[in-house]
Amino acid sequence: METQGIFMSDMSRIRSRYLNLLETALVGTLYGDPGSQPWSSREFHPDKRALGRDWPALAQTMIGSIRMRSLRHMCETVLLDDIPGDFIETGVWRGGACIYMKGILEAHGDTRRCLFVADSFQGLPPPNAAIYAADAADAGDRHHTFEQLKVSRKEVENNFKKYGLLDDRVVFL
Ligand SMILES: C[S@@+](CC[C@H](N)C(=O)[O-])C[C@H]1O[C@@H](n2cnc3c(N)ncnc32)[C@H](O)[C@@H]1O
Repeated sequence: METQGIFMSDMSRIRSRYLNLLETALVGTLYGDPGSQPWSSREFHPDKRALGRDWPALAQTMIGSIRMRSLRHMCETVLLDDIPGDFIETGVWRGGACIYMKGILEAHGDTRRCLFVADSFQGLPPPNAAIYAADAADAGDRHHTFEQLKVSRKEVENNFKKYGLLDDRVVFL
């Protein structure tokens, strides 16, 4: 089948190439992005980055390539099976996994679904077992003290803009 001079097989190959490239840019494997302290050493470890086992210095997601592939598979299943609904990520950090979801929507020509980007945009709260009983298990946890986990909404918006993927169907919560 041909659409505007481009065969569908070409379309799917171009889409796949775009998404592969987007993934390597967002994960940092494209440019050998080093880790950042205190969680990680200041070297690029491809194995850790594949598994999402370090904090990237510059890359926009810390979940790693394998989980990004899984995310893509889930999003594409929703799109190809025409399952209704919007997309959301709760806890976005620099926005990389969300940017990937938006890229997937774009690559499949979806003009209907919204992408919800939900975060405090100021890092983790300290554990508070007085209000949330389950927080008792996190007593002494220090993640709320790490500046690296505090990413403002403006910074996340700018990251979307860098990839040309910010529009009015990206909704910040
Ligand atoms: C580990 S990072 C998320 C990593 C991200 N999914 C990625 O792709 O790299 C955790 C994020 O969750 C947010 N967060 C954690 N607890 C939260 C809470 N109680 N309310 C709102 N945001 C929270 C933090 O601000 C941070 O951006």
